[in-house]
Amino acid sequence: MNHISKWQQIETPRITQKDFLTLADYSTEEIMSLLYDALELKKQQKMGIPHSHLSGKVLGLIFEKSSTRTRVSFEVGMLQLGGHAIFLSSKDIQLGRGETVSDTAKVLSRYVDGIMVRTFEHDTIEEFAKHATIPVINGLTDLHHPAQVMADLLTILEYKGKLAGLKLCYIGDGHNNMAHSLLDGTAKVGMHMSIACPEGYEPNALITQNAKKAASKMGNKILITNDPIRAIKDADVVVTDVWTSMGQEKEAEQRLQDFKDFQVNQGLCEHAKSDFIFLHCLPAHRGEEVTADIIDGPHSVVFDEAENRLHAQKAILKALLGKKS
Ligand code: CP
Ligand code: NVA
Repeated sequence: MNHISKWQQIETPRITQKDFLTLADYSTEEIMSLLYDALELKKQQKMGIPHSHLSGKVLGLIFEKSSTRTRVSFEVGMLQLGGHAIFLSSKDIQLGRGETVSDTAKVLSRYVDGIMVRTFEHDTIEEFAKHATIPVINGLTDLHHPAQVMADLLTILEYKGKLAGLKLCYIGDGHNNMAHSLLDGTAKVGMHMSIACPEGYEPNALITQNAKKAASKMGNKILITNDPIRAIKDADVVVTDVWTSMGQEKEAEQRLQDFKDFQVNQGLCEHAKSDFIFLHCLPAHRGEEVTADIIDGPHSVVFDEAENRLHAQKAILKALLGKKS
């Protein structure tokens, strides 16, 4: 705890980026200071202290995929910071009828103070950010889900009192948005990370290479294996995610076959540390990637994790939209 408590001293996180697209773009200092600010905002919210950090500011929320947590936590987060959010389903705006990403980004930049985007290709959000003059926040792409991983890190910090030196094990689809953002995030905060996935579902090579580079600076290790028992050995944190992500529905049957030996269940968790915590970004499929006795059992912290979307994102919104330029 000692070596990270210095981040607690930073009152308003100083973020150099305009956008929040991946955790690879953020430094250890930025991530830790956002997490400590999230803890503070959470404490204040529980005490009923109102905020006006984003008074008069408006966040646009563009969704090209479904959402429960992301939509509600961003909308409520803006409200609690004194601002306002506008939900923009791609079915209803002209983007869904072929208006270009660049025109949409330029137009919205004239009305709102920030845009959260949930979309398919990661290139789309990069294009958005390139043409928007306001902050663009990633609410999930096929490649990354950094807002979720900030909530995951916040939850781990709350339960374990530290991040650096802990071991996080991810079982399942190593090539999806959660695996990639966990690789980025754990590497930056000094956590060891192991991934167990079936052959052919290994993480993106470039993301892995960059995470390994960041991890080596912090002295932590990354293991990618096809052996779940090897991956989960002595893990402090066990994580999984759906086997079929949004947009992959046609592959669902094949994936059920491919992932059948990569379920988080009691037998596998015997190999983790006895006080491990279990995380899942949700939505979950009990009986597929995780058994009910694990996700609904004593090691599971999934609902604290879901709540922490709100607090982690408030810190991000406050830092990016509240920035004095
Ligand atoms: N975890 C997560 O992003 O949930 P939603 O898809 O409900 O937003
Ligand atoms: N990997 C999942 C995460 C859902 C929050 C998906 O993309 O569907």
